[in-house]
Amino acid sequence: MKSCIDIGLVGLGTVGTGTAKILLENRDLIARRVGVPLELKRIVDLDVTTDRGIALPDGLLTADLPGLLNDPTIDIVIELIGGYDTAKRIMLDAMAQGKHVVTANKALLAVHGEDVFTAAARAGLDVGFEASVGGGIPIIHALTEGLAANRLTSIVGILNGTANYILTKMLREQQEFEDALAQAQAAGYAEADPTFDIQGIDSLHKLAIMVNLAYGTPVNVKDVFTEGIQHVTALDIQYASELGMVVKLLGIAKLHDGEVEARVHPALIDKDSPLAQVHGVYNAIHIVGDAVGDVMLYGRGAGALPTGSAVVSDVISIARNIQRQACGRVPPTSFPLDQRVPIRIRPMEELTTRYYLRCMVLDRPGVLSQIAGVLGNHGISIMSVLQQGRHEAQAVPLVIMTHRASERSVQTALKEINKMSSVVSQPTTLIRVEDEER
Ligand code: NDP
Ligand code: HSE
Repeated sequence: MKSCIDIGLVGLGTVGTGTAKILLENRDLIARRVGVPLELKRIVDLDVTTDRGIALPDGLLTADLPGLLNDPTIDIVIELIGGYDTAKRIMLDAMAQGKHVVTANKALLAVHGEDVFTAAARAGLDVGFEASVGGGIPIIHALTEGLAANRLTSIVGILNGTANYILTKMLREQQEFEDALAQAQAAGYAEADPTFDIQGIDSLHKLAIMVNLAYGTPVNVKDVFTEGIQHVTALDIQYASELGMVVKLLGIAKLHDGEVEARVHPALIDKDSPLAQVHGVYNAIHIVGDAVGDVMLYGRGAGALPTGSAVVSDVISIARNIQRQACGRVPPTSFPLDQRVPIRIRPMEELTTRYYLRCMVLDRPGVLSQIAGVLGNHGISIMSVLQQGRHEAQAVPLVIMTHRASERSVQTALKEINKMSSVVSQPTTLIRVEDEER
């Protein structure tokens, strides 16, 4: 048993600052929970002069990364710099020195996770990544431990705080997309490259991590269909509202006959459904297990302290394992490496769902029947049609809700519809409907 667990932290940005704050301010409580103190021994950042709004003991913050990695007293290294190559090297170097690692870096884990997990498993070390999905929501521990008894038939989540913040501002305050994004960036929610948030890539990374843990399979992110919110307009949000729905960026994974359907895209969901109540930076993940039934986890999906909470929870778990000599007890991939099997991710064209289609059309007799004809020729049945206003001189929106149809048929029909001379201005907008949440 050690009398103290020493921590090294690399990256004192948004999450690093939140993590350091929690480790310092909740020091006594955490020491009682672990049984010994957790000592924040070294912090490394490229910039050691900027005021982070946190009082650090003198000499704690340096730019000396080798000094941290080579310090034999440090038990756990926390990587919070983001990005791929340097972050991966820090984690592998730390493990090569026998140190456990904690990270919030979902991009790295989704793309290079196998290297990190394999290195940890071989060395009998722990890797904590609770903060990588859902910010402060304890979803990783839920998947690896709390729900381990279950076959998980469905995981549907609002996984990106920035995108949800933008959609919420567009709906509630009629804000422009760019203004809402700037506010999310100022609050520290957005990624260094905010296109990751907006284009669905960050949600893809998080979904890939969850699918990996839930189904015991490596996931190639290229196999997961991904579409962001960049084409969602205020007009679509308004029409959704008239239809009793809201637009959310969802990460969806469903188990079907030993295959997994995994996709990220904006979706229309019923305004009374639980996920529709998730606003602003909040995330939520709705899981269905064959034994437990429905479970919903909800909380702040980004930000310094919520994410720091998840990082520190990993540090505490690992510190407890060190004290009980139980490191490696829970495989980082949830399934031991030799129990993982590749599972086919269903290609998107095999999906069937309902669709919201908005065409900008010339307001002339016969246009609706032409479009309906194309949809009918491809076996797509119309559920309802909405057209408001009359503007003979300019294009008007024609909104069509379909019954359940195949993605392949809808995409083929849209290619034909977009070529019609009466369909003008822009390609038809397509938003999938997620109406089962299971
Ligand atoms: P920030 O950009 O705010 O912080 C990163 C910090 O690391 C910066 O201070 C940066 O310094 C420093 N840094 C970069 N490279 C190095 C290096 N080679 N050595 C030492 N320090 C370095 O990012 P966040 O805190 O927002 O994100 C950190 C990680 O957490 C990312 O992986 C992100 O995806 C993840 N995450 C973030 C969440 C959030 O709410 N922000 C939520 C969940 C996960 P400098 O600024 O000088 O470059
Ligand atoms: N940029 C991410 C988000 C941070 O907005 O959700 C949390 O992972």
